[in-house]
This record gives sequence, structure tokens and C-alpha cells, in this order.
Amino acid sequence: MLLGEHKLALKTEAFALSPRFEGIDSLGLYLHVPFCRQICPYCPYNKELFHVVLAERYTEALLKEIDRYSAILGGLPVTSFYIGGGTPTTMLHTGLPGILDHIYRRFNMQCGIHMESHPNDLSPANLSTIVAMGVEHLSMGIEALQDRHLRTLCRPYSAAEAQAVIARAVEKGFECVNVDLIFALPDQTHEELELAARVLIELGVDQIAAYPLFRFPYTQWAQLAQQHHYRSYGLLQKRRMLRVLEQAFYGAGYARTSVWAFTKAGSPKYCSVTVPLYLGLGASAGSYLRDIFYLNTFNPEAYIQALTDGRMPIALSLELSERMQMAGWLYWRIYETRFSKEDFERRFHLPLDAVYGRYLRLLSFLGLLTEGEDEVVLTDAGAYWLHTVQDLFSIDYISKLWGTSRQTPWPAEIRL
Ligand SMILES: C[S@@+](CC[C@H](N)C(=O)[O-])C[C@H]1O[C@@H](n2cnc3c(N)ncnc32)[C@H](O)[C@@H]1O
Ligand code: SF4
Repeated sequence: MLLGEHKLALKTEAFALSPRFEGIDSLGLYLHVPFCRQICPYCPYNKELFHVVLAERYTEALLKEIDRYSAILGGLPVTSFYIGGGTPTTMLHTGLPGILDHIYRRFNMQCGIHMESHPNDLSPANLSTIVAMGVEHLSMGIEALQDRHLRTLCRPYSAAEAQAVIARAVEKGFECVNVDLIFALPDQTHEELELAARVLIELGVDQIAAYPLFRFPYTQWAQLAQQHHYRSYGLLQKRRMLRVLEQAFYGAGYARTSVWAFTKAGSPKYCSVTVPLYLGLGASAGSYLRDIFYLNTFNPEAYIQALTDGRMPIALSLELSERMQMAGWLYWRIYETRFSKEDFERRFHLPLDAVYGRYLRLLSFLGLLTEGEDEVVLTDAGAYWLHTVQDLFSIDYISKLWGTSRQTPWPAEIRL
């Protein structure tokens, strides 16, 4: 049960797209690149091995999807743009520059680009290509800074190579360089974590997104963990590890800017979507348009086929009641760790206190957030409990939704 809704099911029902964009004054854009040069055993994302021919056909399909939306969007301002994956940098020389060019011609883009990358793709020449493409915020999946943990995760580089790549990216002058770090790795010590944080701070990284290792049942990690007897960490152990990171980053002048992320004072934040409503392009991309959430098919071949046949690649959708929209809005704003009550009222024409006042008072009483006249701010304890709730519930939801969608290109229905 989700905040008053008795069941949540994504279905295949057809719906008219154009009316869903009416009344929207700005949008975020997400582009999914479902290719990687290797498949990491712990990774839940929608991806498969990179092949040039498939990437070229995927590019053609994306151009068609962009054209379809451009006819609907007209001049609607796009105020944030995120390229995620998989590994977007696999397509750096196969399609990506042309796709971006098409997007900037067809949509009213009023923003720079945030993009994910793999450390092994960040040669000096590739970094220059990335800057030339208009990427201002670059994220890289470093994951760990000790060789033994990189080996456990099957990452194809050493800690020394990772540090060299980070230094190169920082020198390049991006507005924001984000490094992803995974903690709660098998046998990881507090000293190792502290050392990793210190290295990142010294290298001048703008933001660090630190996630505990989530165990998705449909990834290969489950088998590996059994085979190597990797033990799971308890809640308190993970809390202590996160505290080691918090202390290191706060001590160096970084502030928490989302449940997972610590950003250096004066640096802009790196994040996936900065506006509440967004449009997703590509296989498995999701779109959230006020009263509907929908997902494209996860399978790149099915995605390409649909667009080649002149159909939209939408596989599943979920109509959102006013109550669900409010709950979704609140969840994502809390996730960003601070928000204004006035923004809620502007969006839903109801005071936040009238809808969620007693829940906020309870969370405030428990020390999980602080409430001012207008601003609500998540505390460190609140951020940790949000981690935990995510760990318990959303992994289950994501596993059902992503696990099924990866197996079946056009599922009839997925009940969460
Ligand atoms: C799309 S990847 C980043 C870009 C690129 N593909 C790479 O691996 O370098 C997104 C990030 O999600 C995080 N991630 C993936 N699987 C995870 C898991 N099971 N638990 C925690 N974090 C995970 C990693 O930090 C990873 O860098
Ligand atoms: S962690 Fe990155 S490189 Fe590894 S499979 Fe996932 S998306 Fe691909």
C-alpha cells in the first residue's frame, strides 16, 4: 500500500500523449544509453554489451523519438538535461554528438548537460570531446579507491588509474565533477573509507555520491556473495560507515545536497533531474508528466523496432491520482534534503501543512527533519532513515519493475 493507494500497477493501456503536456511550463529531459563495455555483477541498470552496429541503429531510433516529441513539445522550455546509462561514453564516437545536435535543434533547450561516464573512457582526447559536446557536469563511476575492492567489484582499472582520471577531469574545468563511491563492500574498513574520502577531497572533486552496495536479487551479485561468503552489513554498521564519510566531507566544507550526495561549498550540485516533471528518451527511460508516469520498453531491439514501425516505444504507464502526485512530489523533495512549503502550495493549490502537517510534525519530533516558517530540511538522521526505507522498499519495487521489464519487452502489467 502506498500512502492511501491500495494497489499500484503499471499497465499497457494506450493513451493520447499531447494532452499530457498541456499546462506544463518547463520540463527536464533524460536520455538513456543502454550500453556498457562490460557488465558489472552488482549493477541493476538496464544495459547490455556495446556493439557498434546496434549503437548506430539505436541512434537512428532515438532521432525518430526526438522528432515525435518535438512535434508535441513545440517551444516548451527544457530546463535540465541528464544523460545516464548504462554508460553514455560508450557512444561518444558512435552517435552521441549527432543525437545531442538533434536534441538542441528540435527542443527549446535552456540548459547545459549532465552526463555519466566510465573512468576507462576518459582519455585526454575523450575529455576534450565531452567538453566540446557541451557537457558541463560530469559524473564518473569510480566506486572504490583500493585495488582489492575494485577487484571484488570486477572494475577494470586500478586505484592509481582511477586517481589519475579524476585529476584529469577536475583539471578540465567542468562546472561540477561528481564521483560515485560504493560503501559497505565486503570486509571494507572505516580506515579505507576515510582514506578514499580524503583522496577525493584532495583531488578537488566537487561532489561525491556515496551509496551503500545494494543487493538486487536479479543481478549476479547474489551468486557471488554466496560463493565467496560475503556477509551483509547490519543497519548500524552501515550507519557508522556513512558517518565516517559524513565527518570527512563536512570537515572539508562539503554539505549534504541529497540523500546520497555531498557537494563542495561554492560548487553547483550534480543531479539527475532538477525539475519535478521530466521526459525520458531511449530504452527504459521513464517520463513523469504531472498525472501520468510511463516507461519505454527496456529492450533496445524492441525499442528500435517500435520506432522503425512508426509506433511510440512506450511499454507501461501508471495514471497518478492527485494524492499520488503529492506523495511523489514530497518524496523527491525530501530526497533533495530541503524544500519550500510554498513550492508545494504553488504546485497543488493546497497548503502543505493541511495535507502532510501531522506527518511532518511527527518526523520533526523524531529528529528526522527540521521545520521552519517555509523551509523543511532533512537532518543526517533523516537522510540515513530514508536510505534504510529505500533499501527495504524501493529495492523490492525496482526489482519487480526493472527485473520483469528486462525479461519481457512488452509486459502486460506489473503489480508493485
Ligand atoms: C550508470 S552507473 C555509472 C556510470 C558508468 N556506467 C560506470 O559504471 O562507471 C551508475 C552508478 O550506480 C551505482 N551503482 C550501481 N549498482 C549499484 C549497487 N548495486 N549498489 C549501489 N550502487 C550501485 C554505482 O556507483 C555506479 O557508478
Ligand atoms: S556499473 Fe556502470 S559499467 Fe557497470 S554494468 Fe552498471 S552501468 Fe555498466
